Amino acid sequence: MSTTETISGPISDLTLEEAHFFARVAAKTHAADDVVLLTLRHQDGEDLPPWRPGAHIDLVLSNGLTRQYSLCGDPADRSSYVVGVLNAPNSRGGSRFVHESLATGDSVTVRGPRNHFRLVDAPSYLFVAGGIGITPIAAMIREVQQQGKPWTLVYGGRTLSSMAFRDELTAYGTRTTLWPQDQKGIIDLPTALGSPDCHTAVYTCGPEPLLAAVEAICAEKWPSGSLHLERFTAKKVDTAHDVAFEIELATSGVRLTVPADKSVLSVLEEAGTRILSSCGEGTCGTCETTVIEGTIDHRDSVLTLEEKAENSCMMVCVSRATCPVLVLDL
Ligand code: FES
Repeated sequence: MSTTETISGPISDLTLEEAHFFARVAAKTHAADDVVLLTLRHQDGEDLPPWRPGAHIDLVLSNGLTRQYSLCGDPADRSSYVVGVLNAPNSRGGSRFVHESLATGDSVTVRGPRNHFRLVDAPSYLFVAGGIGITPIAAMIREVQQQGKPWTLVYGGRTLSSMAFRDELTAYGTRTTLWPQDQKGIIDLPTALGSPDCHTAVYTCGPEPLLAAVEAICAEKWPSGSLHLERFTAKKVDTAHDVAFEIELATSGVRLTVPADKSVLSVLEEAGTRILSSCGEGTCGTCETTVIEGTIDHRDSVLTLEEKAENSCMMVCVSRATCPVLVLDL
């Protein structure tokens, strides 16, 4: 079942439409130390919305939290979604709830899927995954393997037993290099990324230090556009020098001030203009909004460098302006 939600506000009427449906947890299985796989099926037995590798869904949990998880099952299987959930030591309540309270048979609301980490068509692929970052990468690997394209994977984790999908991935032989930190230390990225190649797409997902290191090497050595990455946690942004600016809503001409200590999203919501949002920290892409005029100060972890350079859309939960007025397509 999908739902259209219409919300009226004093400044603009906006029809918000995003598919969501009720699902049941059909299975909850151990995938690795502190990692469970949830298999979700539509509550009414309907086919689930189609998805491609790199997509994620929102799980709206009964404890009131909404969390994003990458789909890591088989896109051809429309009867179920599979997500991997790490019981992170720094959990803010979502993954802990999934591990400790969510049980087979329970109901959850699912929103999405959305995909800001799409698998581009490339002659070959180099995947670098860390920890639970393997979840979108595993789905990508199955797809490129089916396509018969060359690929390699370097996959790091704290220990071998903490690494989900390791049996499946090692079955691919020398294409996969497992890198358990307790045995081999941190991934040797200079070597893994040591052969820049304009025909190879680099995909990475994992903890921030890994992503930052891959980004730095690719920026220095790889052709522009080679790197595709997905962050699970927001990049740190220095907000100490933020200043106020204005936004103009193109359909009504209304101007609103965004103070230095508020986001565009919160100003819009306070003014009655509801925007679909989820993570609130620039990692999920839900609040993407088209910008008609003005220069964006991109602070999200979703758009690629090329997409940011286009200056045509922004994540209003975190991004700001480097000009006095941003005109939004609202
Ligand atoms: S709400 Fe997730 S990117 Fe803005």
